Amino acid sequence: MSDRIHSLSGYMYEYQKSVQDPESFWSRIADSFHWRKKWDKVVDWNFETPDVKWFVNGKLNITENILDRHLYTRGDQAAIIWEPNDPEEEHITLTYKELHAKVCQFANAIKAKGVCKGDRVIIYMPMVPEAAIAMLACARIGAIHSIVFAGFSANALSDRINDCKAKMVITSDGNFRGSKQIPVKEVVDEALKNCDSVESTIVLKRTGQDIQMTSGHDIWWHDVIEGVSSENKAEEMDSEDILFILYTSGSTGQPKGVVHTCGGYMIYTAYSFQNVFQYNQGDVYWCTADVGWITGHSYIVYGPLLAGATSIIFEGVPTFPDAGRFWAICDKHQVNQFYTAPTAIRALQAYGTEPIEPYKLDSLKVLGSVGEPINEEAWHWYHDHVGKGKCPIVDTWWQTETGGIMVSPLAGITPTKPAYATLPLPGVQLVILDNEGNELKGNSVEGNLCIKFPWPSMLRTTYGDHDRCKQTYFSTFPNHYFTGDGVKRDEDGYYRILGRVDDVINVSGHRMGTAEVENAINEHPKVVESAVVGYPHDIKGQGIYAFVICDMDGRTEEGLIKEIKETVTKIIGPIARPDKLQIVPGLPKTRSGKIMRRILRKIASGEGDNLGDISTLFNPEVVEAIKEGANR
Ligand code: WT7
Repeated sequence: MSDRIHSLSGYMYEYQKSVQDPESFWSRIADSFHWRKKWDKVVDWNFETPDVKWFVNGKLNITENILDRHLYTRGDQAAIIWEPNDPEEEHITLTYKELHAKVCQFANAIKAKGVCKGDRVIIYMPMVPEAAIAMLACARIGAIHSIVFAGFSANALSDRINDCKAKMVITSDGNFRGSKQIPVKEVVDEALKNCDSVESTIVLKRTGQDIQMTSGHDIWWHDVIEGVSSENKAEEMDSEDILFILYTSGSTGQPKGVVHTCGGYMIYTAYSFQNVFQYNQGDVYWCTADVGWITGHSYIVYGPLLAGATSIIFEGVPTFPDAGRFWAICDKHQVNQFYTAPTAIRALQAYGTEPIEPYKLDSLKVLGSVGEPINEEAWHWYHDHVGKGKCPIVDTWWQTETGGIMVSPLAGITPTKPAYATLPLPGVQLVILDNEGNELKGNSVEGNLCIKFPWPSMLRTTYGDHDRCKQTYFSTFPNHYFTGDGVKRDEDGYYRILGRVDDVINVSGHRMGTAEVENAINEHPKVVESAVVGYPHDIKGQGIYAFVICDMDGRTEEGLIKEIKETVTKIIGPIARPDKLQIVPGLPKTRSGKIMRRILRKIASGEGDNLGDISTLFNPEVVEAIKEGANR
């Protein structure tokens, strides 16, 4: 494939070309895709409003590029290998031909249920092939999918449904996760009590558990496809029509719907997939993420399938039935590229090397990391014990908003350095700005990571609220996209991501807004005020530490702490449950009433003895009391 980079000098050459003449660079890449009509202009943009368009007036359907395009060349090759939660259950392979038929059939089925181009469809499902089929079926008919991670609570689900006014929900009866069986449909039922827009729910039978089916509203997946044709002509989409919405957390309380569009997202996810992972035809690729996150969208489904790859979908967890499961799957399916999160590596590292020893892992060629900074210790463990010292690690930095990988080594090409995401991909023009917005040029500098030129898979807006997109990403530093991350460019020009500089914490690779968690805590009737910060956590990367002022009302601390944590689980989901919750007499505030998070972060990190001058606080005396009760 002509878009493949094969050497470091090749990378440098392509990078230069992508900066000097982005239009010819991207039009060359886009040429190898199937367009119903070619674009009039490659890119049209300004970062002020902001307004970004790629492949202007181009017409396409992304599923034609994923399915129809591959039918003649690799129709009988596996597109998806599904590995179930229970290793005793048979795995399923879907060839490109089979996937094509299933997507077309389900597309016809949801269309018959009244879903039209532009309608929003919520997918709330476990990691089963049908999740990918549902996504692609939406894309096939031009409906906009919005996947909600199946670990989110009913409350979080209904917020998202209402924000995008979804017409349909696609779900399952339940979900197998390790030794647990999780109710899924029940959560949907609860959520839908507060949603008027949803006209029907399609339910996949996965666990066979007892559920309520409401006639006229709920319909089984197997019933809705019965007798439905497997032929479907894909809807013609404009490059800038919305492909999907994915909700993510920010520094404000309410999650925002990041919008990605068809043309640019298609080009960039395919291009970055092939180059970062150096995927060769016939390889088996496995990304362990959940389709509920952007990693699952771009690098389980869209990127790999656009590239004609074989992509594994795994239903389970790394520690079931034991801590060797990942490695068992690698051997079983002869995985060549393996992509996971540092939190999973650290969790497995804690079991030692014994669970790895029974496995050969000799098919592995490339290891990937995503979601949070990978610490050097985990990097070395991954490199030595999983990769047996022979697999390059690609530490990929990107975000829900960037749609695809932005900074990463190209496997086997870019020399790696532990904990460094290394260099930007072609087309990615990074700048480091100080807090005043001055560009820090040259090497050995540290500051705010910004991007000064558009790339094809960037977010276009936040759904239903364009101003929020402008405020969040394009206002801190005018005419730049601000990532929210701090970064260092070292003496070799290599990039190391230092973590978020805003009120966002990264828990096990999942992004969480502190305000969002505070809002949930404040729902508890006995809570007066709260402040949430992140602190270093051995496995999760960051843990959630909540400082809470309560009206004790004769209750025990222990009981109340448990209740408040439960409230967070109920309102957001288990991923937001505070790891530590401390009841405090007050929160340190400035004279103008602003909570001094800097102080709380230090206390939470065990650096309470190193607070500096706190005499200007409105209430310096609470600091001692907080320190005393901290980290108990
Ligand atoms: C935030 C984005 C990208 C998919 C998963 C997370 C952090 C992501 C890395 C990395 C250091 C990383 C950043 C970023 N992050 N990858 N390789 N090294 N930090 O997507 O939920 O949108 O979170 O995750 O802080 O801003 P997300």
